[in-house]
Amino acid sequence: GFGGLLREPYILGLACFASIGGFLFGYDLGVIAGVITMPSFARDFPSLASDPTLQGWMVSTLALSAAVGSLANGPLADHLSRRWSLLLGAIVSTVGAVVQTAAVNMAMIFAGRAIAGLSIGMLSMVIPLYLSELAPAHLRGSLVTMQQVGATAGIMASFWIDYAAMNIRGSGDGQSSLAWRVPLALRCGASLVLGLGAFWLPYSPRWLMLTDREHGAAASLSRVRRMSVYDWRIQREVAEIRASLKLDGDRLAARFPGVTSKPRLFVAQYAELVRERQFRGRLFIACFLQVLQQLTGINAVIFYAPSIFKATGLSGNSISLLATGVVGVVNFLATIPTMLFLDRWGRRPVLIAGASGMSVSHLVMGTLYAVYQHSWAEHAAAGWAMATFVWIYVACFAFSAGCVGWVIPSEIFPPAVRSKAVSLAIATSWFFSFVIALVTPVMLDSLRYGAFYFFSAFCIVLLVWVYFFVPETQGVRMEEMDRLFRGSREQPQCTHLTVGTGTA
Ligand code: BGC
Repeated sequence: GFGGLLREPYILGLACFASIGGFLFGYDLGVIAGVITMPSFARDFPSLASDPTLQGWMVSTLALSAAVGSLANGPLADHLSRRWSLLLGAIVSTVGAVVQTAAVNMAMIFAGRAIAGLSIGMLSMVIPLYLSELAPAHLRGSLVTMQQVGATAGIMASFWIDYAAMNIRGSGDGQSSLAWRVPLALRCGASLVLGLGAFWLPYSPRWLMLTDREHGAAASLSRVRRMSVYDWRIQREVAEIRASLKLDGDRLAARFPGVTSKPRLFVAQYAELVRERQFRGRLFIACFLQVLQQLTGINAVIFYAPSIFKATGLSGNSISLLATGVVGVVNFLATIPTMLFLDRWGRRPVLIAGASGMSVSHLVMGTLYAVYQHSWAEHAAAGWAMATFVWIYVACFAFSAGCVGWVIPSEIFPPAVRSKAVSLAIATSWFFSFVIALVTPVMLDSLRYGAFYFFSAFCIVLLVWVYFFVPETQGVRMEEMDRLFRGSREQPQCTHLTVGTGTA
């Protein structure tokens, strides 16, 4: 809880800092919604403003290139280190922001979005990985959740910044181009701060061990845990990581005898993720969680809330305020309790409670839509009920799947394959986010209220699947995940030293 976080101010500070990466991705997702409605943007890019298909592609290009960025960053985070791949993500992010801000034609807007997308794919993959590798087991959930707190803060801030920028040097047809350039430019500031701060970040101790730097790993752990490097707890953690890596190495050597070439071992590790039963199961959990996170319909609601609110009879300024403004605030506020208490509540109860709330909200929204679709104007109360359930739905997503979706993939894999597996899981999330962004307008148009029932069904699948198949990882040390997932591997010897005898 809160007390536990306050007792670890250094790592809490690191997590807050790293959550700037989450902020950037939330900001990128949100900022464009306001920008495309600005008259100055329509004047500068008339073909883009008048073509909904092009607009759809502009919005979804970000998610597609984020999937690519995330995939590419799996090996990069192993090769360069988590820390320097975070710096690389920040540099790419700054370039993306500069290209979008300076855009004078549509190609530059698309290129800027694609570059920014690459960076948020990289950052959204490496930040949970980095934080989970630094965090003590009892705070891991809270600290990794900081990424989602950052993302929701970014979505919220982007709306209010767009809103404030609307009147820069005139409004309506006289609006200056600065109205859309300033919100896009502000993103540079956050990327630069993240990039500069990377020079002060510690290396991940688990990455240092992966690259045979045991002294460095002990020093990094001692810095992060604020204990002497000779403290038995530090020595024990180093021993556990060493044992886990040794088991990984032995297994790889047994499976691929005589293979020493790095590129071949690299391919072998990806192959192992799919071929080895215990990894396949975990990879399925990590990826399917992302698929279901997206199929709960969050981005359909976030991206298309204005259309939903408009359909219910709300009009003018109040649509954007209620739909984007209040949705953003609710989304942000609902992540805070999970950030504080996830390690006390556990991942499973949070997911099950959230999935139940989301499925009921979708059912109510679908039913309201079905009953009042032709008579919203005469039933103002039904319109408000609809709005209320949109907010309840968003809150349920935000405290559950929104947070836990980042936590589980980053904590369940052994060291040698962790980065690659996390990158596959996060790429899956971005890919499905891309698909949802493309198909939602069609679904809302053809299925109407059926779209809500469709998403509700997937919330129920999430609930049932988590209940029967997803084990609780709360408080389990990363080196002990094999036992939890009933792996075939022997437990690391050093786990027997965890009783605190001081003999590690
Ligand atoms: C999801 C995003 C979503 C955001 C909303 C994240 O956990 O991955 O797709 O837009 O939550 O807050």
